[in-house]
Amino acid sequence: MDKLEVFGARKLKGNVHISGSKNAALPILAASILSNKKIILNNLPNVKDIKTMIKLLESIGSIIKYSKKKNSITIQNKNKIKTFASYNLVKTMRAGILVLGPMLARYGNAKVSTPGGCTIGVRPIDIHLKALAKLGVNYKIVDGYVHAKSKKKLKGTKIKFPKISVGATENLIIASSMAEGTSILSNCAIEPEIKDLINFINCIGGKIKWIGKRTLKIQGVNNFKEAKYNIMPDRIEAGTYLIAAAVTEGKLKISGINPNIIRTEIEIFKKLGLKIKIEKNQINIIGTKDIKSINLKTSPYPGFPTDLQAQLMVLLCKSKKLSIISEEIFENRFMHVAELNRMGAKIKTKGNKAFIEGNTNFKSAELMATDLRASVSLILAALIAKGKTTINRIYHLDRGYEQIEKKLRKVGAKIRRVS
Ligand code: UD1
Repeated sequence: MDKLEVFGARKLKGNVHISGSKNAALPILAASILSNKKIILNNLPNVKDIKTMIKLLESIGSIIKYSKKKNSITIQNKNKIKTFASYNLVKTMRAGILVLGPMLARYGNAKVSTPGGCTIGVRPIDIHLKALAKLGVNYKIVDGYVHAKSKKKLKGTKIKFPKISVGATENLIIASSMAEGTSILSNCAIEPEIKDLINFINCIGGKIKWIGKRTLKIQGVNNFKEAKYNIMPDRIEAGTYLIAAAVTEGKLKISGINPNIIRTEIEIFKKLGLKIKIEKNQINIIGTKDIKSINLKTSPYPGFPTDLQAQLMVLLCKSKKLSIISEEIFENRFMHVAELNRMGAKIKTKGNKAFIEGNTNFKSAELMATDLRASVSLILAALIAKGKTTINRIYHLDRGYEQIEKKLRKVGAKIRRVS
């Protein structure tokens, strides 16, 4: 199994270009099931989760052509597809459950494996299923598969999500887009990736509009049209490289990202003492020795994202005083703490809170990566530790970061993959 070797204590300098967003591309790929017309998608990130989702589409009969243009594909669905998503394809990637909504909307039946993905919490799909039931779906779970059916076409209705869920909002937006009549979805997630999904569906002929801060009105349509769509940039990748500049006290230009979609993160980085200058589609950051402490909680957008919590924790280890992070989204998202402590960090956890003592001089070590964002947090710590750090079991990292070693090497890191 591949591992990474990082030789730390080097300041990063230069330009990092941000790839397309994995979490926007996954629901958009799933939504392509709605249509039997040609769809061209540009700016797809070249990461494992996207390859898995494309394999899933191919396994049900979609014809995918890779264009000569980098990171671009054409999808052409037949009139009939297999409404089946196997455990083998869905086990590594939670977003596999997103094919349930479009399969039901177009064909009225689906058998989809319950999802896998990162081990950061229980991650149930009850909100997806109960909301789909309101559109007229009957379902049961047998041997790890959701067996779902509707007697007729899905029927638009009013749905209020009991809790904000990115995935459930996406599944229901996609399903309602092809349901009969109008759906009103309230208490929706409003992450930029949700907005990208809506822009995509509207681009292929859907009728979705916001009628409140977290409320959507969706008019179902029967047929979709050909379209070309550019996936938005990855805001979590951008945040990760901003933190990489900060921890190494370097100087980076992060390009290809609209700074407005990471305004909360930028405000927090400024509070911590980092110098940040915003230009159109570019963020310039200069690191500092003097990182301030902070008390912060993760929350749904526009709050601070749980997907940057592990990375931020590495930066807070450099502060002079105690910082506290409350993880409000997932119940088991501190798996990086044990490994960071092995590198010299002084972090204690109690329930969903992490107490980060600061004043850490990271030391190199042999490490084991766990979930996707935890894996990248170990790289960040390794970038500032003197000596060689080896990070084992990095397959989660490849699920979500495009060419991370190449991008880091380009700005001065000494990092290599050992196969
Ligand atoms: C998505 C992102 C993930 C991010 C998360 C929160 C993708 C592919 N993944 O995951 O990177 O960390 O949003 O921003 O876009 N929940 C339930 N029942 C459900 C669904 C969710 O209880 O049916 C709970 C979850 O366990 C969690 C919370 O709701 O505690 C939020 O999860 P959700 O927003 O659904 O996350 P994902 O869509 O899985």
